[in-house]
Amino acid sequence: MKRIAVTGGAGYIGSHMCRQLAGHGHEVVVIDDLSGGHREAVRWGRLVQCSLLDAPALSRALREARCDAVIHFAGAIAVGESVADPLKYYAVNVCGSLNLLQAMREAGVPHIVFSSSAAIFGEPRQAFIDERHPIAPISPYGRGKAMVERMLCESVQAYGIAAVALRYFNAAGAEPSATIGESHDPETHLIPRLLRHSAGQAEPVEIYGDDHPTHDGTCIRDYVHVDDLCAAHLAALGHLDAHAGFDAFNLGNGNGYSVREVVAAVEAVTGRSVRTRLAARRAGDPARLVACPDRARAVLDWKPATPALEAIVESAWRWHRAPAY
Ligand code: UFG
Repeated sequence: MKRIAVTGGAGYIGSHMCRQLAGHGHEVVVIDDLSGGHREAVRWGRLVQCSLLDAPALSRALREARCDAVIHFAGAIAVGESVADPLKYYAVNVCGSLNLLQAMREAGVPHIVFSSSAAIFGEPRQAFIDERHPIAPISPYGRGKAMVERMLCESVQAYGIAAVALRYFNAAGAEPSATIGESHDPETHLIPRLLRHSAGQAEPVEIYGDDHPTHDGTCIRDYVHVDDLCAAHLAALGHLDAHAGFDAFNLGNGNGYSVREVVAAVEAVTGRSVRTRLAARRAGDPARLVACPDRARAVLDWKPATPALEAIVESAWRWHRAPAY
């Protein structure tokens, strides 16, 4: 049993993480300022309401938590918004992570698992992105995540902490009983937007460009179930017990689906047709982002339990039919 501090534990992926940690007998302390998260989502462990930008409060929170490791989810998450407001992303995601690392040093917390992103790779140079792919982000969001990875790498060498960065492709879905789920305001992500529409929201869903260099002209992404992502974090915590230093893993299923294929999957699952409207390309969107997850499978023994897109959408649909917050 460990005591784990989860930044962003009131958010979408963070709350699923807390549920799994508690299910494995770990004690959870959520550190979240509730700027994007939901108090109702903090059901496993206690909440310390604190911003990562409030360095003294964060240091105090971490000292009092007396935790064995930090799992760091807190941050701003929209690629498009980061192009319009880059300083927000450097402040929250980069300065916030810097404060967290300082607070970890002060409190003597030895391990961190960091939510990184496929966005660090920019325009892919290969069909399936492995860990050797060059880091060449094309959005402030991606650049911020890459900067934090570099900070972790150097902190590992300088201060003797151990760190794992997990580069998520596209998180989606909800835990089986759908007591927690994805709820952003505004919602920018494709699957929840489509499901909100299916659940009765009137406006058609925009498709951002059909002139990308893909088979149907719409962007291709690798959707991965949120509980599978969380399972990789549990494996990463175990990895940190046995391995010093810094390591990074790409987390996806290795299957790419176009926006139009996701629309079709949503229609198949819900039995309702989706109204779409063609719009311009969204700034910062690469045409195709698909993982090569071989290394996570080999080193972390990570085997996604729900790799099929329709099953992922089905679990999200259970939440979106009656969201609790
Ligand atoms: N899309 C639409 N219409 C919408 C919303 C999205 O066509 O209303 C398209 C986007 O252009 C993109 C795809 O659907 O091609 C998926 O978009 P999301 O906004 O759902 O997700 P992103 O791929 O932009 O970003 C997500 C996370 C990032 C992460 C990235 C890595 O939000 O944090 O996946 O793949 F970096």
